[in-house]
Amino acid sequence: MITTTEQHTSEELIQMESQHGAHNYHPLPVVLNKGEGVYLWDVEGKRYYDFLSAYSAVNQGHCHPKIIGAMIDQAQTLSLTSRAFYNDILGVYEKYVTSYFGYDKVLPMNTGAEAVETAIKLCRKWGYEKRGVAENQANIIVCEGNFHGRTTTIVSFSDDPDARKNYGPFTPGFIRIPYNDLDALKAALEMDNVVGFLVEPIQGEAGVFVPDAGYLKGAFDLCKAKNTLFIADEVQTGIARTGKLLAIDHEDVKADILILGKALSGGNYPVSAVLADDEIMLVIQPGQHGSTFGGNPIAAKVAIAALEVVKDEQLAENAMRLGNIFRKEMQRVIDANDLIVSVRGKGLLNAIIVNDTPDSDTAWNICMNLMHNGLLAKPTHGNIIRFAPPLVMTEEQLMECVAIIEKTIVEYKK
Ligand SMILES: Cc1ncc(COP(=O)(O)O)c(C=O)c1O
Repeated sequence: MITTTEQHTSEELIQMESQHGAHNYHPLPVVLNKGEGVYLWDVEGKRYYDFLSAYSAVNQGHCHPKIIGAMIDQAQTLSLTSRAFYNDILGVYEKYVTSYFGYDKVLPMNTGAEAVETAIKLCRKWGYEKRGVAENQANIIVCEGNFHGRTTTIVSFSDDPDARKNYGPFTPGFIRIPYNDLDALKAALEMDNVVGFLVEPIQGEAGVFVPDAGYLKGAFDLCKAKNTLFIADEVQTGIARTGKLLAIDHEDVKADILILGKALSGGNYPVSAVLADDEIMLVIQPGQHGSTFGGNPIAAKVAIAALEVVKDEQLAENAMRLGNIFRKEMQRVIDANDLIVSVRGKGLLNAIIVNDTPDSDTAWNICMNLMHNGLLAKPTHGNIIRFAPPLVMTEEQLMECVAIIEKTIVEYKK
């Protein structure tokens, strides 16, 4: 018999997941069944502010009518053709997204990790075919503390023990250097056969580490001087999250290879993309890379609508303005309380650092209390709490959230 979730309590549903699902996540104990704009509701009908946005995927807000309308419309017309044939939406989307971000070409994929994999393959192939690097010798520089997804190759260059342990053997060809360190990048670029530098403009998963002003531009210039590709992973930071369309726009950098995901669909569908100009992208020829679902008509239609919403509703501008207010308000709370050490971030991608060790459960307990007080956020790396609400938030709503966070911190008892 198939039962619907309405017949189950939160407790029963959590138990069901625990019993029948793999244990690769540790969610907060809240079971959601409805979302609208900046709000989520649990199965008991309690309303929450979403302060995670599905890890910055739901920038346009939950169930945005324009995006959902496009998705329903396309799902009722044509959902999947594979790339064995053409469809009447993909080309329109490709034209739209390339002119939106200023590149010659796009390669459509589904998840962020797939797009990162695509970028790595593209960069290596370019290295062999355009730079003349000897076969199988290409190296790509990455940063300590990186998070680019979960495939075997991507965890090969992670330094997070949880992400790597017992998943080897790993893919070679990566050089890891400290983040936010131009001297280290300069030295690494002198090593043999370096074809690319893969970087998050802000390290989101690692705890919203914002590099020094000038780092991204400096890194780009160093790469240019060595004819090495600058690859920006904007899966989490892109699409208005940090107060500009892309986080690299803060430093007027144009990546050689741009990686997008998450909010490219407003979080409504797995849509990711790799963008590059012809001299790079055209090293991949028919049969050399692909995906059954990449560039499907629903994805294409949804992505156009999601990107239109970003412009129509001026989400970058809103993120910039509200982010400044948020950090100022958090600083005020921090100044009056020693539970939180600092706040950092850009636009509406922010984090507070809890005054405890990374292996303490203080941040988790604060998130539990935030949940009880009607706001959903999640710790990242122990003592850091990431705050990333949908970008459709109003100032009034933001101030309500600030009040919830302040009350939770003030009332927190160890
Ligand atoms: C910077 C970055 N790259 C890649 C990914 C992987 O995306 P996905 O989970 O869709 O594979 C993430 C996910 O959080 C991310 O933050």
